[in-house]
Amino acid sequence: MSLDLLSIPAECVTQSRISELDYNNIEFGKIFSDHMLVADYKDGAWQTPQIMPYGNMSLSPATSALHYGQSIFEGMKAYKAANGDILLFRPLDNFRRLNISAERMCMAELPEDIFMQGLEQLLRLDAAWVPPTSGCALYIRPFMFATDDFIGVRPSSSYRFTIFSCPVGAYYGQPLKVAIEPHYVRSAEGGAGFAKAAGNYGAALLPARKMQERGYHQLIWTDAKEHKFIEESGTMNLMFVIDGKLITPPASTTILKGITRDSVLQLARDFGYTVEERKVSVDEIVEAHKAGKLQEAFGTGTAATIAQIATIHYNGQDMDLPAIENREISNRVATELDKIKTGQAPDKHNWVYRISL
Ligand code: COI
Repeated sequence: MSLDLLSIPAECVTQSRISELDYNNIEFGKIFSDHMLVADYKDGAWQTPQIMPYGNMSLSPATSALHYGQSIFEGMKAYKAANGDILLFRPLDNFRRLNISAERMCMAELPEDIFMQGLEQLLRLDAAWVPPTSGCALYIRPFMFATDDFIGVRPSSSYRFTIFSCPVGAYYGQPLKVAIEPHYVRSAEGGAGFAKAAGNYGAALLPARKMQERGYHQLIWTDAKEHKFIEESGTMNLMFVIDGKLITPPASTTILKGITRDSVLQLARDFGYTVEERKVSVDEIVEAHKAGKLQEAFGTGTAATIAQIATIHYNGQDMDLPAIENREISNRVATELDKIKTGQAPDKHNWVYRISL
C-alpha cells in the first residue's frame, strides 16, 4: 500500500476541546488533542490508516497485548516556530526506533509513509494544539500493540498502530535527587532493554516507587551482573561531566538509544568538548565526587529533555553536586538544543522536519 500525501481519510471533530487548555498550566500527559491516527495490520498487510476524533477504543478481553506485552511506543515532540510552522524534532529517528522495537518484540514492521504522512496530516489538523509557550511542546505518542483475540502464547498476527498527542510542559519540575539501585535491574544483556517496549516501563515501577518512598525522585539503574556500572536513570539516559569531559554509558543492548542522548553528544562535540561513550562505574562517580571532579550529572530524554541531577545517593551517602547555574556543558547544550528545536538556531544536522501551514 502506498499513501498519497495527505490522503488519509479523516473524520474531524465537530467541536474542538482546545478551549479547555490553559497554556500556562499544562500538566504532563493529561489533556489530549482532538484527533488520533489509527492503522490496523491484518492478513499480512497494513490497512488504510484513518484519522478520527481522540477517544476510547473497544478491545476484546483476550487482546494479546494485554496478556503477553507485545506493545511498543515512541515519544517525540513538536514545537511552534515564530512564523507558526510546526517543527518536529528528528521524527525519522523515532520511526526507525519503533521498527527496531517491533523487530525485538516480534511484531509487524510499520511502513514509513503510515508513520510520516500520518504524523504530518494529524499535526496539520491539530496544529492549534502545539503550544506557542516557551518550555512547552506537543508531545506525540506513536504506539503499536498486538490485537489478536487469542490467549495462546505466540506472536500476534494482527496489530494496531496509533498516534495521539498532548500538549506538555516540563516533565520534572525541579532538579532531581536520584539514588543508585543496588538490587533491582531494568535490563540484562540479551534482553529487550534497547527496545521501547511497554513491559520495560511496567517492571520499573516498583523499584522506582521504593526509591520514591525513600525520598528520591528516581533511581539510577546499574548493570544486571554486578551492579557496578551505571546504565540509565528512570526513563532517561544519563550523562556526567567529570573533570571537564562529558561521559555517558555506551549504547548497548541494555540501554535505550536515546535521540536526545545522541543530539546532546553531537552538540557537545560541535562545541569542542571531549565526549566519551564508555562504561562508567559507580566507583568512578563516587571517587570523582570525593575529588571534587564531578561537575555535572543530568538525564536526557524526549519528555524530560535535559533534567539536572542535584543529588546522587549511594550506599547510605548523599552526594550533592555543584549548583545548576554553574554547569557549563549541560546548560550550554540545553540552550542550543532548545533553539534548534524551535527554529531559533541553524539546523546544521538536519534534525528539524518543518510542516509549513
Ligand atoms: C520519553 O522521554 O518520551 C519517554 O519515553 C518517557 C516517557 C515514558 C514519559
